[in-house]
Amino acid sequence: MKTEQLVGHGWFPAAATDAASGPDSLFYFILIGSIIIFAGILYALIHFLIKYKRKSPNQLASGQLVHQPLLEISWTVIPFILVTIVFFWGYKDFLKMSIPPVDSMEVRVTGKKWLWQIDYPRYGVKTVGELVVPVNQPVKLVMSSEDVIHSFFIPNMRVKRDVIPNRYTRLWFEANRTGTFQVFCTEYCGDGHSQMLATLRVVSQEEFKDWLKAGSSGGDLPLPELGAKVYTKYACNTCHSLDGATSVGPTWKGLYGSNRPLTSGSAKADDNYLRESIVNPKAKIVAGYAPVMPAFAGLLSDREIDGVIEFIKAQK
Ligand code: CUA
Repeated sequence: MKTEQLVGHGWFPAAATDAASGPDSLFYFILIGSIIIFAGILYALIHFLIKYKRKSPNQLASGQLVHQPLLEISWTVIPFILVTIVFFWGYKDFLKMSIPPVDSMEVRVTGKKWLWQIDYPRYGVKTVGELVVPVNQPVKLVMSSEDVIHSFFIPNMRVKRDVIPNRYTRLWFEANRTGTFQVFCTEYCGDGHSQMLATLRVVSQEEFKDWLKAGSSGGDLPLPELGAKVYTKYACNTCHSLDGATSVGPTWKGLYGSNRPLTSGSAKADDNYLRESIVNPKAKIVAGYAPVMPAFAGLLSDREIDGVIEFIKAQK
């Protein structure tokens, strides 16, 4: 899947929401204002350095200014006005971005090392690493973490918020055009942090309805094909290779039926071993690997688990 070019014009990634104009122009207001003030200060500094340079070693300072009311008032009042503008400008957009519209579609986001689980509670659809939303529809994300602090960042929507264990945080956005956009985890959360990505796919209302239908039905794919789909859809591929390469987790090549050296003892990788490793991965840890895999209990249907096992069997 191709994601949209992240680079927009100027300093920002391309905007895909109307809400971007407020913070973007405030940023430029502060930036250009700072450049003008910096240039003015630099000019005055150099100008006075030259103008008041001591001409001879014995020259005394003379005619020192003690009070200059007009100057003092202006260097107090002008910055005050500027800071007030910045405050109200920012506060207005902050309020807008903090309060989701009442007709928002609610989506649950769960962060865990190192994937994003997305739930559509109203439709009974779950995904990993793929947030699909209709265009021109406010979307409210209710987010929490199962382990450490993560942060959900969609640059093109100008939203970012920490995802915290034992607490819900929320953010909302409304996309104004269709496309595929990158989502990042932007809070350092361990080895797989840089791989903790998701895609945001903004589609038309009709496409969204079709997508929901396809997602909730489960489909009647043959088991190995279903397993292959789960392998990418649920981001198993982030940590498990199919070609024998060592990654965060053991490769699936030649896994089925092999003898697994565990942190204590060993086990044979049969169907029950694989099922347990998917549903409750911390039960048995293969020697040399960290116990970092999230549990997929409740996330995969029984048929999907069967599919994954069949898919693993096919990796000889
Ligand atoms: Cu999750 Cu960084």
